[in-house]
This record gives sequence, structure tokens and C-alpha cells, in this order.
Amino acid sequence: MMRTQRVREGRVELEVPELESFRAPSGDFVPSLTPVFYNPHMEFSRDIGVAAVRVFGRRAGRRLRICDPLAGVGVRGLRYAAEVEGVEEVVVNDASEEAFGFLRRNLSLNPLPHVIPRHEEAHLLLWSCRRSFQVVDLDPFGSPSPFLEASCASLSPPAMLALTATDTACLAGVYPLACLRKYGALPVRAEYSHEAGMRILIGFCQRVAGIQGLSLLPLLCHSTRHYFRVYLLCRRGGVREVLREQGYLSSCVCGRRSFSRRPEGGTCECGRRREISGPMWLGRLGEGGFVEEVRRTVEVEASDFRLRSQELRLLELCAEEAEAPPFFYDSHAMARRGSLSPPRLERILEGLRDRGYRAVRTHFSPTGFRTDAPFEEVQRFFRG
Ligand SMILES: C[S@@+](CC[C@H](N)C(=O)[O-])C[C@H]1O[C@@H](n2cnc3c(N)ncnc32)[C@H](O)[C@@H]1O
Ligand SMILES: [Zn+2]
Repeated sequence: MMRTQRVREGRVELEVPELESFRAPSGDFVPSLTPVFYNPHMEFSRDIGVAAVRVFGRRAGRRLRICDPLAGVGVRGLRYAAEVEGVEEVVVNDASEEAFGFLRRNLSLNPLPHVIPRHEEAHLLLWSCRRSFQVVDLDPFGSPSPFLEASCASLSPPAMLALTATDTACLAGVYPLACLRKYGALPVRAEYSHEAGMRILIGFCQRVAGIQGLSLLPLLCHSTRHYFRVYLLCRRGGVREVLREQGYLSSCVCGRRSFSRRPEGGTCECGRRREISGPMWLGRLGEGGFVEEVRRTVEVEASDFRLRSQELRLLELCAEEAEAPPFFYDSHAMARRGSLSPPRLERILEGLRDRGYRAVRTHFSPTGFRTDAPFEEVQRFFRG
């Protein structure tokens, strides 16, 4: 008999596998060791999910039908049902026998009449619910790519597709062929490889949605710990416009980078060969107004979120950089190239702004910044 424990997250009470039984010899909690997945570290991501669905619901101006097709013990779906106003129904599904047992018990702990428990293979469920949901939250082990087509098919636009990817090593260039296999794109190894990986993930989602005549645009994206989390607005049509903002990145070890619709290799100004990666999304990583509204929602409405102050810090940075130019610079990586000690980030930001350029921080790195200044202007801060 599996040992279990009760936890409270947000406004729901949950029975989950006893977390203490799943510690590695090092003492670290290893969620993947649990037979039914419940990862307490993902509370941060789920809190932001609740705030994002609240904002999307208010904007949609209608009652939402939501699907959590890979629900584990059911925590995401139950939280949407308990914590978002104006939800019509939440379909909470898991194919695993054990997960479904927890899911049913958790539903009886939190009697929410508009939650519909399902015990099906996710593809079968999603394809049988064509054009049904305003929100689908895809939270798989590893890559979401196998479930994307079915998830898009189940969306009823205007809708929001939220997804998690935990295969960040593959997207960020540690396993380039795995990235090509799962996302049809080549990643890059650079200080901004996580940003490029997130853009590869978004680009792939957009191409899959495009097959069904749907366009996807980022509302909010963040890279936290070992995962990427992406919230995409789904609309009918507009696919060409979206695909026009996809392209390829050419990068060089000297720090120079450029991007274009078609792959451009060749030699960098420093004389070295440029590396090509992509295809990927080159547009904005969020809609400033949406991100700011999610931040306000956490600030004003979510005093019960345990991790609120960290969440606010992240959302502030995401709002600042949402519509800023792609591919941040990292001041430490730039300084290392010249064997210098890095200048203070504030000094770089102010210096660039004084010269009339945009310059903002990024949540991808505490020492990173985004700017529309040409590379030579950026380099001025890193000369001995
Ligand atoms: C990462 S866990 C979900 C975690 C959960 N959303 C949370 O926030 O705690 C992924 C879940 O997907 C389920 N799953 C994997 N493949 C599936 C499939 N093809 N159909 C339905 N469920 C599946 C697994 O049983 C597992 O519970
Ligand atoms: Zn170069």
C-alpha cells in the first residue's frame, strides 16, 4: 500500500504520495521517483498559471471550459476550478490507474461540481473533444511535442494554450539531435541558449497549430529552474503573419549575433565561422499588457500564494522584457571574452539609455540585459 500525505496548495487540499519516501540518497526530493507525479517545486508555476487563467478569463469575457489532460493527482485542474471565477467546467484527466485514484480522492476532498474526472489516453480524449476548450494546460513529463496536435485540435479559439517543457537540456543545445527530432530545429550553445530554446519551442507549437489554420502568439513565457512555461494566445487565421516572424539565428563565439528569415552562415566579422540555429520564433516573448495584468493579479488578489514575492519579482522582469528585442547579452559572458571584470548592470543599462537606446533587464539571467543597440555599442562597455 502506497504511503500518502495531505498537502494544501492554493485553495485546494490534496492527497499525494508521501514526499519523504521519494528522496534520493543525496537527500534531495526527486519527483520523478514518485509513481504518481506531484512535484511541490512546481507550486510556483501553478500559482502563475492560476493568475494567467484569471486574466485570460476576464479578457475572454465568457465562461471558460478548461482541460488538464495530463493531470497527475489533479492539482492544476482543481486549482483552476477552485480559484478562477467564471469557470464553466474543468476536464481533469490522467491515463495512469494510480494517478486516477488520487485524482478521484482529491475531487472528493474538494467537492467542485464543475470538475469532470476522466481516465483516458490524452490523445483520445483531446481528439474526441474537438474545438471544445478555451484553455488547455499541457503538463507532461519532458517534451510537450507529442501532444501538441491533439491539444490544438481541442481548442476553441479565441483560446489559450499553456504548456510546460522540462526537456530544457535538449532545447538549450545539450542534445542537438534530440532537439531536431522533437522540434524540427537546431538549438544553439551560447549564454542565451535557454532563450533560443524557448523560441524553438514556441516556433514548433506555431507550425503545428498552423496546420489546423490556427495562430499562436506568446502572452507570457518564463524559464524557471529546470522547465520552460509558455502561455500562447490561440486564434483562427493569422498563420502567415506568425510564420513571417520565424527565422534563423546566426551566432558567433565572440558574442555577435544576427537573425533572418533564411539561414545565413558564413564568416563573422571577427573571422570565425557563424553557427546557425532554428527555425524559431523571433517575435516578442510576451504581451506587455497581459504580463502586467498577471503581475497585478498576483499583487492584488493572491495574498494566499506562499511564493508571492518571488512570483512578483519574476513577473516584473517578464513585463519589462516582454516586447524587447530578442537575444539578451550577458554582462559576465561579454566581460569574460575580454578577460575583464564585468561592469555593474545598472551602469550598462543607464549608459545605453543615455545614448538613446532601449535597455532592459531579463528574467533569463540576473546579469543579462536586452537592447536594440548595435553590437559595437554594447562592446564599448567591455573594453579594457
Ligand atoms: C508531469 S505529470 C503531471 C503533473 C501535474 N500536472 C501537476 O501539476 O502536478 C504527467 C502526467 O501525465 C500522465 N500521462 C503520461 N502520458 C499520458 C497519456 N498519453 N495520456 C494521459 N495521461 C498521461 C502521467 O500519468 C502523469 O501523471
Ligand atoms: Zn565573431
